[in-house]
Amino acid sequence: MDNKKKSSFTGSIGFVLAAAGSAVGVGNIWRFPYLAARDGGGLFIFVYLILVVTFGFSLLVTDIAIGRKTGKSAIDAFGAISKKWDFLGKITFLIPAIIMTYYTVIGGWVLRYIVDYITGKGSAAAQDGYFTGFITSQISPIVYMLIFLALTAFVVYAGVDKGIERFSKIVMPGLILMVIAIAVFSLTLSHTDANGVTRTGMQGLAVYLIPDFTGVTFSKFLSILLDAMSQLFFSLSVSMGIMITYGSYVKKDVDLNKSITQIELFDTGVALLAGAMIIPAVYVFMGTEGMTSGPSLMFISLPKVFMSMGSMGSVVGIVFFIMVAFAALTSCVSIMETLVAGVMSKTGASRKKTSFIIGVISAVASIIICLGYNVFYFELTLPNGAVGQILDIADYISNSFLMPLIALITSVFVGWVIKPQWIIDEMQRNGEKFSRKAMYVVMVKFITPVIMAVLFLQSTGFFTFIINMFAKIFG
Ligand code: PHE
Repeated sequence: MDNKKKSSFTGSIGFVLAAAGSAVGVGNIWRFPYLAARDGGGLFIFVYLILVVTFGFSLLVTDIAIGRKTGKSAIDAFGAISKKWDFLGKITFLIPAIIMTYYTVIGGWVLRYIVDYITGKGSAAAQDGYFTGFITSQISPIVYMLIFLALTAFVVYAGVDKGIERFSKIVMPGLILMVIAIAVFSLTLSHTDANGVTRTGMQGLAVYLIPDFTGVTFSKFLSILLDAMSQLFFSLSVSMGIMITYGSYVKKDVDLNKSITQIELFDTGVALLAGAMIIPAVYVFMGTEGMTSGPSLMFISLPKVFMSMGSMGSVVGIVFFIMVAFAALTSCVSIMETLVAGVMSKTGASRKKTSFIIGVISAVASIIICLGYNVFYFELTLPNGAVGQILDIADYISNSFLMPLIALITSVFVGWVIKPQWIIDEMQRNGEKFSRKAMYVVMVKFITPVIMAVLFLQSTGFFTFIINMFAKIFG
């Protein structure tokens, strides 16, 4: 391995676009707008923006600096710093391994909708029960998942600069253009419903952007804060080894301060635009009730909205789902790359062989996830109260359980074991100015560990458990 030339991005733009490609995913498109609509519009946005520049920034700095300084992918990076902490790399590696199994399934759903819209079946997609009918069918979700997986594997197989970087450089600018175009179109919409009420896109924009304090108590504010925090975390692809791996491909002369700011701007910009695209459109045709969360927003509410747009709807539908597919592909590439890089370093096998083997293993795992909606169907109530199938369980373990746990352990490691100066040195490697240095130190030593512990307890349902216990004792 060591005598082979180390893979790297050609320069800072390639790195920023690849990292932004990882960060911008379905989270920006289906989760951010929904949370903003639910959590007081501008109020949520304001809280989120503050968190991006403090907390999100610190997590990104930690991951990327660890990656570049050690030159190792996630699985080896912690052990390279301190033998005793090698376990942290191994558990971090679990997250992309789990996410990989279901991200391809969701990617497959998106591909199916692109095909539907292109073949003029957009209005069928808007019928009640269409989405459920599709995901519970046995063959079609597997076929689309395999196509999505093959596309992902192809990019990873081609390598860091010739595959990932090149792909991101084409796809990310295209994604931005599409999201802007649909957002502008959304704002021009207007519709009068059966009760004679007319709603416009601009009114929808106001719902999205104007802070709404009605019913905001202290505990409601706390839950908005936690929502924003967990969204941010998932959205930036931090604490799952991905940014460590991408960081290891950054050349030493790149100014990490600038690149990290650009990645933050990119990810947040797309989230804000996705809100400006989705909230006004849903508001115009369905009112605020259409703002459901997760898959149902994208695969159930939006097709109805596109149908209400008349003939323009099928064009908007095609553009929308292609944009989502771009976002999902670049994210899935980053997940698979982290797995491939880890296995390559452990086994010494070639990239081509490793990509192929991981592709096959992922295919098997993802088929099981697909079958979770029919052959292996069951309902399990998760500790956070949601009822889920295999996909939701995988998502729960990686996002609600492992990610906050890893962010917590990582910040203790950086803040108290190796000390923040270790990271600061990397940020100032070429004499750059690390302008948020003081804040970084406070964040990594004190605030992130506390917040992560709270988030962990909250999303694993531990808080509810304790509150219920108190209620029983004192009730
Ligand atoms: N950051 C991506 C998003 O916002 C999600 C993602 C999760 C990407 C895990 C890679 C790995 O949707």
